[in-house]
Amino acid sequence: MTAASVLSVESVTKVFSGAGKPDLVALEDVSFSVGDGEFVAIVGASGSGKSTLLRIIDGLLPATSGAVRVGGEAVTHPGFDRAMVFQQDCLLPWKTVLDNVAYGLVIGGAKIADAHETARRFVQMAGLTGFEHHYPHQLSGGMRQRVNVARALAVNPRILLLDEPFAALDAQTREIMQGELLNIWSESRTTVVLITHQIEEAVFLSDRVVVFSARPGSVREEIPVPLPRPRTMEMKRSEVFVSLVDRVWRLIEHEVRKAVEEGMA
Ligand SMILES: Nc1ncnc2c1ncn2[C@@H]1O[C@H](COP(=O)(O)OP(=O)(O)O)[C@@H](O)[C@H]1O
Ligand SMILES: [Mg+2]
Repeated sequence: MTAASVLSVESVTKVFSGAGKPDLVALEDVSFSVGDGEFVAIVGASGSGKSTLLRIIDGLLPATSGAVRVGGEAVTHPGFDRAMVFQQDCLLPWKTVLDNVAYGLVIGGAKIADAHETARRFVQMAGLTGFEHHYPHQLSGGMRQRVNVARALAVNPRILLLDEPFAALDAQTREIMQGELLNIWSESRTTVVLITHQIEEAVFLSDRVVVFSARPGSVREEIPVPLPRPRTMEMKRSEVFVSLVDRVWRLIEHEVRKAVEEGMA
């Protein structure tokens, strides 16, 4: 682990073994680290173990061997220093936007008034002012996912873990959400690990793209993204952007095609 790294993934291997089934090696010797405030994206073919790795980082799943450290401490179980956002929002349908965002703080022992005050700040950051008292079913998919990100950030995690957060959204909403996520992130500057299978999304959002090989997943290459911030939609047409996307695509094209043929994608 380098001095400034918040997260280090050290030779993580994950083998799933079930009764009567052959062992499945999902991850093999995965190592990389993420610096404080850095935004890292992980891309790889379907089934390359990306979600498994994120669950290991979150502490929901143990590694078979190797270790994950956050701030130098080995991860053994979920904790408030990590917050996860999944593809499907996990908002409580009977709670308002404000109460959903405040929920993690309340569980963590904060007083309701304090939790609401903090939650209001994150609701505003997520561009949802005016919707505090709406219920999830009254919001669009994009808005719900913004509440979800606000909810995750409100507990002030050291690391925000995002597993295909926009996969369920239509293409246009997804583009808008990428900008919204960067807006929220630029205010909080939390360290982020984002999984996506969309290469353009990975390059547009991140400081570095970690490219996974097909199963068993391992780090094939780490590609820095030298685009300045704030990122703008116009950058997606720049030569640097297009050539980075092309470079990542070349690294995984063969495996993505194979996964599609095998019916995994
Ligand atoms: N709980 C589990 N038990 C057995 N196999 C699993 C389990 N979770 C995931 N896998 C397998 O591990 C591999 C990686 O899955 P996953 O991490 O979901 O990949 P990705 O997110 O990159 O698509 C897949 O072959 C998947 O079927
Ligand atoms: Mg996945």
